[in-house]
Amino acid sequence: MRLALERGHAVTASTRQPGAFPLQHARLRVAGGDATDPGVARDALEDCDAVISVIGSAYTRRPVTVYSRAASAVVGAMRESGCRRLLAVTSSGVTPLAQRDDLSVPGRAFHRLARRTFGRTVYDDMERMEAVVSDSPVDWTIVRPPGLTDEPGTGYAIAEDVVEGPYCSRDDLAAVLLDQLDDDRYRRRVAAVSTPGLHVGALTTFRREMLKR
Ligand SMILES: NC(=O)c1ccc[n+]([C@@H]2O[C@H](COP(=O)([O-])OP(=O)(O)OC[C@H]3O[C@@H](n4cnc5c(N)ncnc54)[C@H](OP(=O)(O)O)[C@@H]3O)[C@@H](O)[C@H]2O)c1
Repeated sequence: MRLALERGHAVTASTRQPGAFPLQHARLRVAGGDATDPGVARDALEDCDAVISVIGSAYTRRPVTVYSRAASAVVGAMRESGCRRLLAVTSSGVTPLAQRDDLSVPGRAFHRLARRTFGRTVYDDMERMEAVVSDSPVDWTIVRPPGLTDEPGTGYAIAEDVVEGPYCSRDDLAAVLLDQLDDDRYRRRVAAVSTPGLHVGALTTFRREMLKR
């Protein structure tokens, strides 16, 4: 959000906790509500040229539907408003193992474990989100990062489907998403992104993500 404002965009942030939103700016509108509600999506999209979805859920054993329901609401609102460009963030965890020639043997084992056990309900719903988005008529790009970290961005790598690198800095993910607004290379495609050379350790990332609950 901060980077979008620095780049001169007018931005609407859609959040369930508008009163706690940490930024204020003349070009920032903060809209409140649950993103799975079609009315909330419709309100948030007013006068927008593009939508960036970074909606997320922590790993949980419970069924997850927030990705797919929010995607349905957003795509519906985009069709009504005529807004064309959609960037939807899912995860490298949904990339089929058969395509993951970037992974080491332990990396493949971790991917399989996450997909089948502690991450299963999240990844299942990310797949449903990707289906909603890719079946829609809008100009979509699905962006799949690996583990996200708060380390400063150092520049990203991007490629179709698979890219080397086990982590992506949130700064670099923000830069990718904003760069893609004016870039058609990955229109109606899946873009994998990472921060090359970034390494923080799987256990550190796992602990951080679990503590977000
Ligand atoms: N963390 C990772 O390692 C990782 C790895 C790969 C991909 N991703 C994906 O990258 C994106 C960003 O991840 P992150 O870890 O930075 O995000 P995050 O901290 O998990 O934040 C997700 C956001 O989604 C919002 N949200 C959840 N349910 C909502 C709902 N029903 N209506 C409105 N807002 C809702 C949350 O709002 P509240 O604060 O109100 O709950 C939160 O602001 C997500 O799409 C995530 O799935 C993350």
